Amino acid sequence: MARSKSGVVYVCQQCGEGFPKWSGQCGVCGEWNTLVETRISTTKSKSEYRSSKRIGEGIVKLTELEGKGKTQERLAVGSGELKQVLGGGMVQGSVVLLAGEPGIGKSTLLSQLTLYFASRHGKVLYVCGEESAEQVKLRLDRLSGHKKTSKQAKDNILLLPEVDTDVAVVAMEQEKPVLSIVDSVQSLSTGDLSGMAGSVGQVRESGNRILNVAKRNNLSTFIVGHVTKAGSIAGPKVLEHMVDTVLNLSGERSGNLRLLKAMKNRFGAVDEVGVFEMTDAGLSDVTNPSGLFLEEAQTGVPGACVAVVMEGTRPILTEIQALVVASSLNNPRRVAEGVKASRLQVLCAVLEKRAGVKLADRDVFVNVAGGMRVSEPAADLAMALAIASSAKEKAVGARTVAIGEVGLLGEVRRVSFVEKRVKEAAKLGYRKVVGAGREKSLGEVVKKVLK
Ligand code: TYD
Ligand code: MG
Repeated sequence: MARSKSGVVYVCQQCGEGFPKWSGQCGVCGEWNTLVETRISTTKSKSEYRSSKRIGEGIVKLTELEGKGKTQERLAVGSGELKQVLGGGMVQGSVVLLAGEPGIGKSTLLSQLTLYFASRHGKVLYVCGEESAEQVKLRLDRLSGHKKTSKQAKDNILLLPEVDTDVAVVAMEQEKPVLSIVDSVQSLSTGDLSGMAGSVGQVRESGNRILNVAKRNNLSTFIVGHVTKAGSIAGPKVLEHMVDTVLNLSGERSGNLRLLKAMKNRFGAVDEVGVFEMTDAGLSDVTNPSGLFLEEAQTGVPGACVAVVMEGTRPILTEIQALVVASSLNNPRRVAEGVKASRLQVLCAVLEKRAGVKLADRDVFVNVAGGMRVSEPAADLAMALAIASSAKEKAVGARTVAIGEVGLLGEVRRVSFVEKRVKEAAKLGYRKVVGAGREKSLGEVVKKVLK
């Protein structure tokens, strides 16, 4: 970042780039009126570094570490889904950024974690910059429900309603909790910078200070970061490269379902997904998401086909529904819910041209049952079959899944993780598999399945 001598930089609130001079437009991302004056701590000059006695200190020989790395402890988190997303539990001393839109359930998830840690592992420090201690207490009470929280567990929970980063940092340093929760990084600010709480400069600096104290003292920490629907203004993007793990909590259309995805994880696989349901007692694990999506699956009705999509490393079965009706419009409608509209258009064209399914003067509506959002090409074949099934008024056989990508030439392509998908389907009783490398063309599949 460019720096001026005066210790002041102008930081773009959109992209986080810094400039020595103010201007109306950010020279990097092109946004207007986003530069904000931000004071920075002055850095040492080169000669100061050279004269520093600390040179050479802190270097560790690999051999000295022999046998150490293996013992990195993972703490149980109380939820199978969260455990899986974290890569097998909370690594002691790791810093996790939990991002998500406001109201999605971040505080709920972390309150549940607080209760679990307090009863199992020890002291938890909950820095609540957004809510009062009473509000957090009410939520904790509600989440513990009829299960009485023991006196000892209650003693382990420390609430700190505070918006000053440095106070929070000192509290973490003094209390050395087993788990620290910072809810949220946008509510914190440090007096050393001039920007408002929530500005990129403040978010970056607060995040940095919390990270430093956590790393110095080996404190497991969760940092909450809000992201807005509209974009990344003051979003936690600037923190992503600093922390060990970035989790994203998002909702599905149907309302109660929440997906927790690992976007980055130094201690586990990325793209790992946990599925939760928001209930009046907080977020509860959904161990069999396919069951949830297939709950009301219709068999024997034309216009439906089950797809197997991968959410991270996890196969999920979901039903794709289609309705094809005569159109009274010059441009027949193609309406997609839960799938990409452009994909629907392409598949309609391929069905028409390569599989002889007449759609030109008909409206086509496609919907994914259960509110999943499907963007994987592997669901192409199921979507195409659902449309063809409705168009031909013939049902896809019961207990059938379709797995495959459909190309413009009407060819059915093999997709990744076929064995995993087929296995999951079989587990749920779907033993007839079409596509998956067996049939080569869409025309062939349509003929075979919709006899
Ligand atoms: P919250 O965790 O406060 O969201 P965030 O911290 O991400 O902004 O969740 C708020 C929503 O969750 C709110 O609309 C109420 C709902 N909720 C439940 O449905 N059940 C519960 O047990 C709790 C605590 C919240
Ligand atoms: Mg919250």
